[in-house]
Amino acid sequence: MSETATITIDGNSYEYPVISGTEGEKAIDVRKLRADSGYITYDDGYGNTGSCLSDITFINGEVGILRHRGIPIEELAGQASFLGTAFLVIYGHLPSQEEYVHFSQQVAGNAAMPDDFRHHFNGFPSDAHPMAVLSAMLNAAGCCHSEMTSNDREQDMEHFDQAAALLISKVRTIAAMSYRMSQGLPFVAPRLDAPYVDDFLHMMFSTEEKDYEPTPEIAKAMDLFFLLHADHEQNCSTSTVRMVASGGANLFASVSAGVSALWGPLHGGANTAVVKMLQSIHDSGDDGSQFIEDAKTGKARLMGFGHRVYKNYDPRAKILGGAAEEILNSLGHDDPLLDIARHLEKAALEDEYFVKRKLYPNVDFYSGLILKAVGIPVEMFTVMFAIGRMPGWIANWREIATGSSRIHRPRQVYTGKVDQHFVPVEER
Ligand SMILES: CC(C)(COP(=O)(O)OP(=O)(O)OC[C@H]1O[C@@H](n2cnc3c(N)ncnc32)[C@H](O)[C@@H]1OP(=O)(O)O)[C@@H](O)C(=O)NCCC(=O)NCCS
Repeated sequence: MSETATITIDGNSYEYPVISGTEGEKAIDVRKLRADSGYITYDDGYGNTGSCLSDITFINGEVGILRHRGIPIEELAGQASFLGTAFLVIYGHLPSQEEYVHFSQQVAGNAAMPDDFRHHFNGFPSDAHPMAVLSAMLNAAGCCHSEMTSNDREQDMEHFDQAAALLISKVRTIAAMSYRMSQGLPFVAPRLDAPYVDDFLHMMFSTEEKDYEPTPEIAKAMDLFFLLHADHEQNCSTSTVRMVASGGANLFASVSAGVSALWGPLHGGANTAVVKMLQSIHDSGDDGSQFIEDAKTGKARLMGFGHRVYKNYDPRAKILGGAAEEILNSLGHDDPLLDIARHLEKAALEDEYFVKRKLYPNVDFYSGLILKAVGIPVEMFTVMFAIGRMPGWIANWREIATGSSRIHRPRQVYTGKVDQHFVPVEER
């Protein structure tokens, strides 16, 4: 017999099916609760609410597991590339040799922006935040492809493969253009023969005199960074993408909303906040000990620590911690911020305040140090996260577009005034 759960309200009992995920996760299907009882559930921050059934990514935060399409992140980080992982996340299987070549070529072939598109950048002040530019420009990029942005599900899906490759490619070009714009530098055309990461760094850092060629260590570290951000289940920005998509909006509009959601310091902005935090600890002459005390009394927040889902080590943080060390060694950099990070990590992992609340390093704790070592400016850190997360947003949009999802429309509990009446202005 299939499992059920009984909810008793005001002396009446209602029985609801229990849904099991393939990893044994359980959920009570309360879709009929309001119709049956007049009650809704209240779950601020959605910590207990499953908003969808999804095949893409599995996380077990209690033990620190992350798998894409069933494959552990540690295996992907050791053996796959960012583009291979992107394909896996979007299409559900590892690409064959042929599929990989085709996908990579499609991505490379879409790197250039149309000439007239460049004029859009003139409308932004040079100090515009690159996340604002990215969100606006991704939506604008859709304007050049009306066949992919019809908001007609069938038509948008007919062009899905092209749109997916185009977005994975253009997000990187737009990111580089926004950086060049902020520096008052001319745009650099993509090199269609270069691998994904090399081309991105070329568009960021090449000068008229010299083409930028990353060292193999830098290319590997950036590829790993993007790979580790490829998808992460129903986080704030991915849920936003699904929310927008559930209304029928096209892929470009949906991922552009995802970028806006990612911008905040509690989500994608945390990598920027970590490096700023480490720098200010360094500048104040503290080795991290005072900062830990401030975090415990609520005077400060230890950025890059804690996670809504992980109550154990974020597996991505473990991988990136090792990678940060490797890249700094390869560059011969002795970054004092890495020492402070290591000290903070050690102190926090031993401190009762953090242990009791199960606060462990998350993906952002070390990622900023890698980006800093590569030479990515701090203002661009969250943009780097967006480039990495693009495959996850696309995969989640596709799941909505090809599934039978209803429009996302949560309920609320109204707590405002009642029985008010209009008062003419002269009587107020
Ligand atoms: C990620 C984050 C937003 C998760 O928030 P959450 O699930 O709502 O957890 P809460 O804010 O309810 O935290 C639970 C407790 O731990 C404390 N806490 C959580 N993160 C903390 C941190 N980074 N430093 C110090 N204390 C922290 C809270 O103050 C709270 O303490 P209390 O029970 O005494 O009130 C939060 O941990 C955070 O702000 N971390 C820093 C930002 C960051 O790194 N974000 C990137 C996430 S990938």
